[in-house]
Amino acid sequence: MYIVVCCRNNLDSGGSMFLKVYSITILLLDLLSLIVKVIFAILESIFQTFTGGAEKSVVNEIVLVTGTGHGIGKELAHQYASLGAIVVCWDINQEQNDETVQELRKIGCKAYGYKCDVADRDSVLALALKVKEEVGDVTILVNNAGIMPCHPLLQHNHQEIRKIFDINVLAHFWMLEAFLPSMIQNNRGHVVALSSMAGVMGLRNLVPYCASKYAVRGLMDALNEELREDARQIEVKFTSIFPFIVDTGLCKKPYTRFPFLLNFVPAKKAAKAIITAQRRNYSEVSIPGILLHLNSVLRLLPLKAAQHLKDFIDSGVDSDTT
Ligand SMILES: NC(=O)c1ccc[n+]([C@@H]2O[C@H](COP(=O)([O-])OP(=O)(O)OC[C@H]3O[C@@H](n4cnc5c(N)ncnc54)[C@H](O)[C@@H]3O)[C@@H](O)[C@H]2O)c1
Ligand SMILES: *[C@@H]1O[C@H](CO)[C@@H](O)[C@H](O)[C@H]1NC(C)=O
Repeated sequence: MYIVVCCRNNLDSGGSMFLKVYSITILLLDLLSLIVKVIFAILESIFQTFTGGAEKSVVNEIVLVTGTGHGIGKELAHQYASLGAIVVCWDINQEQNDETVQELRKIGCKAYGYKCDVADRDSVLALALKVKEEVGDVTILVNNAGIMPCHPLLQHNHQEIRKIFDINVLAHFWMLEAFLPSMIQNNRGHVVALSSMAGVMGLRNLVPYCASKYAVRGLMDALNEELREDARQIEVKFTSIFPFIVDTGLCKKPYTRFPFLLNFVPAKKAAKAIITAQRRNYSEVSIPGILLHLNSVLRLLPLKAAQHLKDFIDSGVDSDTT
């Protein structure tokens, strides 16, 4: 009907009328295809929620995990190795990192350890060359290393704030600088980044940390879009992880009113959820999985209402200085 109306308005100029009909037809076809695609994506996502979906193999993939000396990183190294991957372990703490590598070798897994401060761009780039020579092209990169000082903003000094951003944010850029080009060149690869639920909602005692984890989310979302829209159709995948509280000791004084709802997840379970998300090509997942969905619903409420709910749930972290 719209087309007919347009035709009437343009009876005088035949050529431009034809162009208009043409462009409106294209627009309508585009809209139709958009609707079909959106419905299909929704159905696919519902289907995936219930069936879980296929998991790609990681056998003989070269997986580099940062922060493998302790906590989630150490568990990731163990589980990737037991799935048949070749694991490259980076940590600033040589002793603990060596321990991880020895444990893996003892059970017959292929593991390589390197001491590295991921905040130091020069050493990241130099070490990346060494890894390429000694192990090969990294095909799965897990940016996991991070720190979490926890006190009111005005008790953070400027050195600490810079350090949080150096390790939690800028290190991701140096790791990408070192490892993304070969993934793009080989047209395959996967980058996983540890953000946090603190990268989705603000929490007291964690102002710089929250800012750093929001930054990781922005970095990953934007990079994902940049490559998705790249004409070369690059098959590199991105996964962002949003844990709440994992019992590694990183979070010194967590509290929760409803432990059955917001339980502190063991590092083993967190690592398993991370690897599953990566193998299923999910672009984001929270741990526990329900939290991102809950947050989406909360965002629909007026801020004040959401704050009342947050006060009722009463979960967070206390300052580590008191
Ligand atoms: N534990 C949690 O409750 C929780 C919640 C949300 C997000 N996260 C995120 O998960 C990631 C891992 O946390 P975790 O609980 O396993 O921490 P962790 O403290 O148990 O382990 C972190 C490891 O990273 C290493 N590391 C620290 N600085 C480094 C640097 N500059 N260079 C190289 N290695 C360095 C440490 O030596 C340590 O081995 C972090 O990014 C953290 O922010 C953790
Ligand atoms: C994940 O993405 C890769 C690269 O596009 C593809 O080869 C693989 O089949 C996908 N796997 C799953 C389980 O979706």
